[in-house]
Amino acid sequence: MRIIDLRSDTVTLPTPKMREAMSNAKLGDDVFGEDPTTNHLEEISAEKTGKQAAMLVPSGTMGNLICSLTHCARAEEVILGNQSHMFHYEAGGMAALGGIHPHIITNQPDGKMLLADIDSAVRADDVHFPRTRLICLENTHNRCSGSVLEPEYCDSAAALAKRRGLSVHLDGARIFNAAVALGIDVQKLTRSADSLMFCLSKGLSAPVGSMVCGSSEFIAEARRTRKILGGGMRQAGIIAAAGIVALEEMVDRLAEDHINAKNLAVGISQIDGLSIDTSKVQTNIIYFDLLQDNRDKTQDNRDKTQDNRDKTQDNRDKTQDNRDKTQDNRHKTDEQFLTKLDEKGIKMLNLGPAHFRMVTHYGIKSADIDITLTALIEVMKGT
Ligand SMILES: Cc1ncc(COP(=O)(O)O)c(C=O)c1O
Repeated sequence: MRIIDLRSDTVTLPTPKMREAMSNAKLGDDVFGEDPTTNHLEEISAEKTGKQAAMLVPSGTMGNLICSLTHCARAEEVILGNQSHMFHYEAGGMAALGGIHPHIITNQPDGKMLLADIDSAVRADDVHFPRTRLICLENTHNRCSGSVLEPEYCDSAAALAKRRGLSVHLDGARIFNAAVALGIDVQKLTRSADSLMFCLSKGLSAPVGSMVCGSSEFIAEARRTRKILGGGMRQAGIIAAAGIVALEEMVDRLAEDHINAKNLAVGISQIDGLSIDTSKVQTNIIYFDLLQDNRDKTQDNRDKTQDNRDKTQDNRDKTQDNRDKTQDNRHKTDEQFLTKLDEKGIKMLNLGPAHFRMVTHYGIKSADIDITLTALIEVMKGT
């Protein structure tokens, strides 16, 4: 059975050309700056993003961490979105390893933070407060439906940062998806950031690696931070070779992933019991909700809960029971839904009660979208 793995674009396997480039790569010791393939990847990464210099790192998480640690000293503060990857999924690295204080403000559904919110989060110069040092943006925004930040917004956030004496870091794990979705040169999205990280190992399909880009001075300092974290690699050209193919050959085809995601979303919007806002789908990430059974049961239990509110202590316990049952039902339904799809060879992620994510990528062809939609229809009909 063919497996259609829509959990993430990180499941992509290297292309045949990448494997060939990896086996033929010219190598040296990159910690000595002597790996020609890594040096070449760093040059083209800097050039494409319009920065003076770039550095290969093993992962996006390490790239973001290196940038936080390079920008900020202990007890300094970073302003970032409450839905950001750096806040949710990077194991609290900036706090654990850098003593950096995250200051969380609301991400709007389109992934932006309101400029007024950023402005009012910047600390006054007062001995009681941590010093604000950095603002982090995320483009595309993973938890906000893969939404795209436009250049005008990025430039305005950077102007605000400059006015308040701060730097801007861009978590651009999928920055090329944003550029392709907007049909613009990626430099329009990177020009206002003091540092950025982008991933080679997501939609661009390289097996390992992310790039940190910035001024020559910033990257020189970031190399020291990478070394502290144990991220200095030796014959890194093996992975850099795949990264070069990723940058040179895999960017334009991201448009295909975006079309597949949109078609998938439109298909889901026509299936009874599933709910999706297709207008939110701009790139390769889609989120949808499971309504059937789950919601009805939830609503039933909510009504019961309301009735019970007016009654005695005894009934309060029942209310609690009902809440637990609702929660249980949600988890059971989600699990059953995933298992039934899995039996049909379709994989996706459950990111909360009745809430699911699918990501299109190089390993997903347009025919897979039809197969996935058919499987979803069958599962919802119980066939
Ligand atoms: C927006 C964003 N930033 C950073 C990362 C971290 O990348 P990595 O998995 O390479 O550590 C991810 C990974 O999914 C991501 O989606």
